[in-house]
Amino acid sequence: MKSTFHLLSGNSKDKSSEICKGHMVTKSIARNEIRNCKTLGLLGEIFLLSMKMKKEGTPFLPLQLGDPAHFDFPPIPSFKEGILKALDNPLSFAYGNPQGYPPLLEKIAELEGVDPSYVFIGNGVSDIMDKIMNVTAVKGTNILFPAPVFPPYLDLNKKNSIESRLYHCDLHTWQPDIASIESKIDDSTSMILVNSPNNPTGAVYSEETMVAIIDLAEQINQKRRLLTIPPLCLIFDAIYSEHYFDDKPVDVKKLLHNKELTWILLNGASKSFNVPGLRLGYAILGGVERDALREVLYNECILPLCMNSIFQEGYLAALLDPTVENYFRENRAKLKKRRDLMLNGLGQIPGISVVKPEGAFYMVLEMATEFTNDRELGIALLTEEKICTSQMSAFFDKETLPDSTSLRLAILPTEEVLEDALFRLSRFMQKHGNT
Ligand SMILES: Cc1ncc(COP(=O)(O)O)c(C=O)c1O
Repeated sequence: MKSTFHLLSGNSKDKSSEICKGHMVTKSIARNEIRNCKTLGLLGEIFLLSMKMKKEGTPFLPLQLGDPAHFDFPPIPSFKEGILKALDNPLSFAYGNPQGYPPLLEKIAELEGVDPSYVFIGNGVSDIMDKIMNVTAVKGTNILFPAPVFPPYLDLNKKNSIESRLYHCDLHTWQPDIASIESKIDDSTSMILVNSPNNPTGAVYSEETMVAIIDLAEQINQKRRLLTIPPLCLIFDAIYSEHYFDDKPVDVKKLLHNKELTWILLNGASKSFNVPGLRLGYAILGGVERDALREVLYNECILPLCMNSIFQEGYLAALLDPTVENYFRENRAKLKKRRDLMLNGLGQIPGISVVKPEGAFYMVLEMATEFTNDRELGIALLTEEKICTSQMSAFFDKETLPDSTSLRLAILPTEEVLEDALFRLSRFMQKHGNT
């Protein structure tokens, strides 16, 4: 098995297999279970082929990218101004607070309506989630994720030797199936992750869904208290909270008030301010065990000493910008136009069906074609029509994988590119569609 770095860099020499030659894989310094990760599955063969095409100078439409900075979504100008101003402050170059830049912690706390001592900044949601897992993961426990799921979460669990269980979502609405969540919980379930607005489906979970999940977790905890089983914790990944097209996503903090639960809310600047490369995310700790969690998470945050101070000052400047709500509104309006363009266009292509996304950057296309798996479908679409997508099978496990062949498309590219994509998709379906 080649290492991820090797595959992406395109080196011809496979160093990892060289190490293994003539030895048991377990004798390698590289941990074997880290090698076969799901995130590589997301990037997968379609992505690797697109990298090759890029290298060879073959253009393609990058509909796999969930990175707004690649498209016409610039950061708010005050973000950059805040960074430039920070460069003039000698203290910006000093080690900072391991929990985050204090004025930024205070501003986030004010916006979220919580105490700043329960806010933690990380190098993106990915990093703060990694730290949370490092301090909470207990071998033998399991964590529930929605199917489909953002694949790196499964890899985090794998790294910590924690079982991941995927709960079903309704294939016509992509809302979580509460009965499925209930059926997957046992006494070893430590956490349930909820992601709304959702990657990859674009679903925004209704208030009814959120209330049902919270009520279920609270009922479980009430039973567990009597049996002295550790309580369940809910994690809400709200990284796309500023990207919704109709109704604003529910503020779960209000629903969690006074509940017998511990909860963690994740958010950050990557998507809201179109700066994923600056790596700025945060966690808010809440509920019954927030103090215990704060203590261990603080210890974990001390290990890398602190975050990048200068970028945190930029984030603060952006949050303090009086035009920030307008900036969010404009980004939403632009994205909604692109979503509608895609929905209208796809609706006219026989053999393609799509659940209307209500938020985030994505839509899932179910395509009735001669291809029996989405890897082959995605590769054919890239080779023949030069459209790069992500295979949906990378977001499921074996048990939850639907029969259909589906691809995830990002709706971030310009209208011109999306119109071109619709034309190519139509031509592709005329050739390969089952209808
Ligand atoms: C659902 C979800 N959570 C978390 C992340 C990672 O966020 P960050 O860039 O803050 O690490 C992403 C990135 O695409 C995502 O889609």
